[in-house]
Amino acid sequence: MAEVVIVESPEAGGVLVAGHIATQVRADPEFTLGVATGSTPLPVYAALERERAAGLDFSAVTAFALDEYVGLPRDHPESYHSVIRREVTEPLGLDPARVHVPDGDEATIATAGERYEAALAAHGGVDLQLLGIGTDGHVGFNEPGSSLASSTRVKTLTARTRADNARFFETAGQVPTHCITQGIGTILRAGHLVLLAFGAGKATAVAGAVEGPVTASVPGSCIQLHEHVTVVVDELAAARLERTDSYRWVYTHKPIWQGL
Ligand code: F6R
Repeated sequence: MAEVVIVESPEAGGVLVAGHIATQVRADPEFTLGVATGSTPLPVYAALERERAAGLDFSAVTAFALDEYVGLPRDHPESYHSVIRREVTEPLGLDPARVHVPDGDEATIATAGERYEAALAAHGGVDLQLLGIGTDGHVGFNEPGSSLASSTRVKTLTARTRADNARFFETAGQVPTHCITQGIGTILRAGHLVLLAFGAGKATAVAGAVEGPVTASVPGSCIQLHEHVTVVVDELAAARLERTDSYRWVYTHKPIWQGL
């Protein structure tokens, strides 16, 4: 079962997860981090930036992003190539040659999923995958109904996801209709999944993912199929979970040697 950690704020969650990643990078400078975009992982990246300022070297770390919009030029400020460069690669001092983002170019999109899977496999996969969750339960851009065995491929964004992401664009109509995303099967191949969720808007999705049935209707519920999952939520995102007393008890009594 996933370990659920209830933190007092997104910042506290960021510090917790970044501290764990920093420990891993110290032990293995060639660590491979799966990165997500959106608002949720920002406190993790901010805390990792402080680790860098304190002397941690991320230059040998490899990063693989979860997804990309189809049809946005790479230099568009909201393409995930740009977002990852701005929020991860530059602030952490990653080597751009080691940072991978799916190719959302329409001209070559037919083979982009296969190429991304090949790059992941050639590298040997991801050690720790950061995940956010959509209000509709998506992880990556695997919208409800996505196959639990899926690989990287093109998906159509739901109206709800496009509305949720409209805040990043000048008008709602500018949000692309399609994306390329790691599949659920791809995500499940990472060594450790760390799903973060903050705010009341995520409470239903979190409850479905952690305590609901495993179902393609709530893609986040795929985490129940993985043997090493950490779910980091604030009180608001935890509000619809039924077993919070148990999660707090387990985490309070967690042996320190286990790490996250
Ligand atoms: C982003 C991604 C998405 C987001 C999700 C939550 O790469 O894969 O699954 O994690 O849409 O977005 P935020 O964090 O903005 O609420």
